[in-house]
Amino acid sequence: MGCMKLKNPFLTRGYAGPDYFCDRETETRKLLAAFDNDRDITLIAPRRFGKTGLIRHALSQLSDEYAGIYIDIFPTRNLSEFSAAFASAAIGALDTKIEAAMTSVARFFKSCRPTVTPQADGMPKFSFDIAPANAEATVKEAFDYLKSKGRRVVVAIDEFQQIGTYPEKGVEALLRSHIQFLPGVRFVFAGSRKHMMEEMFASPKRPFYQSTQILSLREIPCDKYAAFAKRFFDKAGLPFDEGTFEEVYRRFEGITWYVQAVMNRIWEAGDGLVDVKQVDDAVETLVEDQDLVYHDLLRSQSEGSQRMLLAMAREKAVPQPTAGKFVASSGLRAASSALFALNDLRNRDLVYDTDSGWVVYDRLFGLWLRRHNS
Ligand SMILES: Nc1ncnc2c1ncn2[C@@H]1O[C@H](COP(=O)(O)OP(=O)(O)OP(=O)(O)O)[C@@H](O)[C@H]1O
Ligand SMILES: [Mg+2]
Repeated sequence: MGCMKLKNPFLTRGYAGPDYFCDRETETRKLLAAFDNDRDITLIAPRRFGKTGLIRHALSQLSDEYAGIYIDIFPTRNLSEFSAAFASAAIGALDTKIEAAMTSVARFFKSCRPTVTPQADGMPKFSFDIAPANAEATVKEAFDYLKSKGRRVVVAIDEFQQIGTYPEKGVEALLRSHIQFLPGVRFVFAGSRKHMMEEMFASPKRPFYQSTQILSLREIPCDKYAAFAKRFFDKAGLPFDEGTFEEVYRRFEGITWYVQAVMNRIWEAGDGLVDVKQVDDAVETLVEDQDLVYHDLLRSQSEGSQRMLLAMAREKAVPQPTAGKFVASSGLRAASSALFALNDLRNRDLVYDTDSGWVVYDRLFGLWLRRHNS
């Protein structure tokens, strides 16, 4: 990873090493300092700001003293699936030799037996299939296994808010109680649901209350981002107009994924970055690529939610979506139906509240809706 030269330096998924990673120096330093000083971190930012990228980057910068474990629990729906994901990631990261891994499995994971799938790089993948009755035992085994390694470990759990949707009661308390007794193991809990994450870590009633340092991720500063982008164009002998880059940044409020996606298309065209027309074209292509998806998405909403989405996209940002004027202009019947639609859309991450008001979460969907309006 990181050695292969990419054809297109603007990634729209994954992490490919520090060369293709822009800035985040302060945040990375904060993470590494927290690990060295025995603090756990809660990382909160809206979707597509670069949480996963930052975690992967920080893990890649760990000194040899540490082992890093990354787990994305977005696909997990209950404690059994969590424990399976956790066990599998832990084994994969801490036992890099197959014999050692097999021994560890036999010694620690008594509540379950993994299936072993060979992989191209020689190290097999351990998949755990865990019966609900054994989930708690497996979680404990995975923590015991971490402890037995006697080395410093960083465990990053991405999309952590997902545990709030598990049907089991007391999952937070269970995890918290294990974590407390792991002196050498540091945790990063990352999530995009601000509300759920803040509840979990900042409410006195919850097990994780004040147990971590909270780090919220902002946009990468425009000048840093411009310098990062310019470097690739310079190296390729292509023109790069900083003002035009600022336009890309401005249009998407500096949100990392959108900047990456637009720059990825502009790079693909191969003419450098010289005028705003290129930006228009790139955005147009991105919106058009999603046309079918967006049609289906809009059609699958209730009538009230459709009206709310369309009106919100038209206004761009709505400070008070239940206020009379907005309700009337959106075609919703009353403040109560506006509130209902708003909650419905928020719960499914289709809208969210920014400093300037409520917006359509997916900015490209917002652009598509505005076109649909007219
Ligand atoms: N500092 C960075 N420099 C360059 N590209 C980045 C950086 N951070 C993230 N990216 C890229 O931006 C895109 C979105 O980032 P990432 O997936 O990390 O966001 P996220 O906050 O985890 O989003 P989600 O909430 O949807 O999971 C990815 O394609 C990633 O490769
Ligand atoms: Mg992510």
